[in-house]
Amino acid sequence: MPGGARGIGRAVATALAADGWRVAVAARRDSDDLRSLRDSLGDGHDVALCDVSDDVAAGRWVDSVGERLGPVDALVHAAGPFARAARSTDDAAAWRRVFADNLFAVVGLAGAVVPAMRERGWGRVVVFGHAGVATLRPPPTIAAWYAAKAALVCFSRALAAEGAGRGVTVNCVSPGVIDTGGMDAETFERMAAQVPGGVAGRPEHVAALVRWLLSDEAAHVTGAEVTVAGGWDLPRSVYKTG
Ligand SMILES: NC(=O)c1ccc[n+]([C@@H]2O[C@H](COP(=O)([O-])OP(=O)(O)OC[C@H]3O[C@@H](n4cnc5c(N)ncnc54)[C@H](OP(=O)(O)O)[C@@H]3O)[C@@H](O)[C@H]2O)c1
Repeated sequence: MPGGARGIGRAVATALAADGWRVAVAARRDSDDLRSLRDSLGDGHDVALCDVSDDVAAGRWVDSVGERLGPVDALVHAAGPFARAARSTDDAAAWRRVFADNLFAVVGLAGAVVPAMRERGWGRVVVFGHAGVATLRPPPTIAAWYAAKAALVCFSRALAAEGAGRGVTVNCVSPGVIDTGGMDAETFERMAAQVPGGVAGRPEHVAALVRWLLSDEAAHVTGAEVTVAGGWDLPRSVYKTG
């Protein structure tokens, strides 16, 4: 699971470990968050440093997870760093960086683990989109991130088609405004105020869906994009006047 040190990924890693999964988490920095996750998960799990946007490093990480924990039954890609530019056309290098983190890393990791899932006849992939992307009306300063998330939905559907009938499901979970501590307080309050009821979601709301998507109960759910947004992505006239 790339991206479990904090936020949604941490809640997912904690929930899956409680369900009996052996969890492997990767993050780029050796932070207090990562160390405390390692302590709280305890033995039988694997918390490592790896930048999964680097294909070679990601391949080595997948191999080492296989050696330590056994075959990979589920890939949950929770690393999707948000990036803001001055303008939508600002910087081609920034667009490449956003796509490397949010899309190409997933393509590479899926290529490393999904073929073996198909051979074993069981596997789960969950990626994270963004609830607002469905409108395809990106604020210019975050157009690259929107575009990468939209492409990720497309990729997840193609991957789902390849796993269909082979026991491998692939789904996209698209959060709206979730209280992960990742935004400055002023921006977060402004965003949370836009959620019907004025309350942001919690990482645990998202984790609950992921743990179900990984279960046998969800065996017939694949190629879906499910929003966890409290109605934030719905037309305002519906919830303000209705
Ligand atoms: N939070 C929200 O409200 C929200 C809204 C819409 C969509 N989402 C999506 O939901 C997912 C989870 O979001 P989040 O806000 O909880 O977390 P996030 O900021 O996207 O990711 C945080 C985690 O990912 C790790 N990470 C980032 N890039 C990495 C890389 N290249 N290789 C390895 N680890 C990497 C970070 O650790 P290091 O920094 O140490 O690497 C950290 O553990 C993301 O895909 C995000 O885009 C979130």
